[in-house]
Amino acid sequence: MTIREIIFEATQKLEEAGIPSARLDVEVLLAFLLRCDRLALIKNPDNTLSEKQSADFGRLIARRAGGEPAAYITGRKAFWSFALDVDPGVLIPRPDTEVIVEEALAVLRQESWSHPRILDVGTGSGAIALALACETPGASITATDISEAALETAKKNAAALKAEQIVFLRGNLFEPVDGRFDLIVSNPPYIGADEYQSLPPGVKNFEPEEALRAGQTGLEFYKKLIDQSYGHLAENGWLLLEIGARQKQEVCAIFEAHKNFYEHIAVRADYAGFPRVIKGRRR
Ligand SMILES: C[S@@+](CC[C@H](N)C(=O)[O-])C[C@H]1O[C@@H](n2cnc3c(N)ncnc32)[C@H](O)[C@@H]1O
Repeated sequence: MTIREIIFEATQKLEEAGIPSARLDVEVLLAFLLRCDRLALIKNPDNTLSEKQSADFGRLIARRAGGEPAAYITGRKAFWSFALDVDPGVLIPRPDTEVIVEEALAVLRQESWSHPRILDVGTGSGAIALALACETPGASITATDISEAALETAKKNAAALKAEQIVFLRGNLFEPVDGRFDLIVSNPPYIGADEYQSLPPGVKNFEPEEALRAGQTGLEFYKKLIDQSYGHLAENGWLLLEIGARQKQEVCAIFEAHKNFYEHIAVRADYAGFPRVIKGRRR
């Protein structure tokens, strides 16, 4: 079969299985199998696959049709300006999370600290910490997670990107952390109990529950992070939190309840127009 034919057929299979972005996933998986980039597929549509390659590709497509995310099948996910190793022990970093990186960089530019101390709580694959490390080589960065599996993957990603200024610590929220930070960032779990039940199967059945679920309402981590960050922020330090698209009011209300501690509270939308990052500066 030619590349053109196999892409057409596999896309139909994934569409029939109800997979969104079927064509993109087919190209990602085929490029992964053939160890090339997607552009090479498009440039060479008449190249043919061997029988073994066709059979191997059939197996990859069957896994994707069963709901397994393409990033877990390939073990890689693009984020910011690099690609990260991912596995079922970590949440697959989402493009929306790049907004908190952009916002953190804006704060760093505005404050012009010479050696900012940054804390990423719940680092997962290391996505946010690594993007900040790449963009601010003078920063010292601490990244924590409660999951040992996530920290192992994050450390591997840091080694691959030669991000030596990140210290990884395991523990519950601020438990493993000492000292104060100029910037605390976090994309915490924020899915409530009802919403968790209605997540797409590709998320619910494959991504780690502890990276997604946050108590009954989805707000559990915001309460703790906003409350406890105050004690870990340096004077004029900033707290930046990623929020779910429908959580703006509730998380603003939590900041509001701590208005003796934070000022300049503001919300930034993502590129689809949904509220995505909320920030406040320690008074
Ligand atoms: C939504 S994921 C975010 C991962 C990564 N920062 C990203 O943006 O892709 C939340 C992360 O918080 C971690 N986590 C959950 N509960 C935690 C806790 N009590 N203390 C520290 N980390 C926690 C999870 O293991 C997961 O890696």
